Amino acid sequence: MKKIIVNGVESSVDVTDDTPLLWAVREQLKLTGTKFGCGEGLCGACTVHVNGEAVRSCQTPVGDLEDGAKVTTIEGLHPTNEHPLQVAWIEEQVPQCGYCQSGQIMQAADLLANNPNPSDDDIAAAMDGNICRCMTYGKIKTAIKRAAQA
Ligand code: FES
Ligand code: FES
Repeated sequence: MKKIIVNGVESSVDVTDDTPLLWAVREQLKLTGTKFGCGEGLCGACTVHVNGEAVRSCQTPVGDLEDGAKVTTIEGLHPTNEHPLQVAWIEEQVPQCGYCQSGQIMQAADLLANNPNPSDDDIAAAMDGNICRCMTYGKIKTAIKRAAQA
């Protein structure tokens, strides 16, 4: 049993230490905004924050988290889903199928937290590991810039 803080709520997850955080979040806590894509750390669909940093939850065993670790999923990024990125995502109509988008937003949120005014190159570097099969990359970049100006 691991006690972690998920989206500000103390949560107990009853899984083996080698269980990826992705499955604890989706299956135990029923927070299904975080998606399973490749399962190999290659697509970014499963991105969440652990103690404020973007991580690939498919590659993060629950046993590696300290008790009380703070996990944020897309559901907890903002209390009313009005994080500047979420607002910009809607204004720019970024998603196509949507499958990759929670991971994209969580990755972008980490970028803006560390670099509030990123250049095109900064955005490209930070978002490089987040794959979108619908090719929304251009709109993602525009939305990140819009959020940075908000
Ligand atoms: S599902 Fe985790 S990186 Fe693809
Ligand atoms: S919006 Fe479809 S995979 Fe990105």
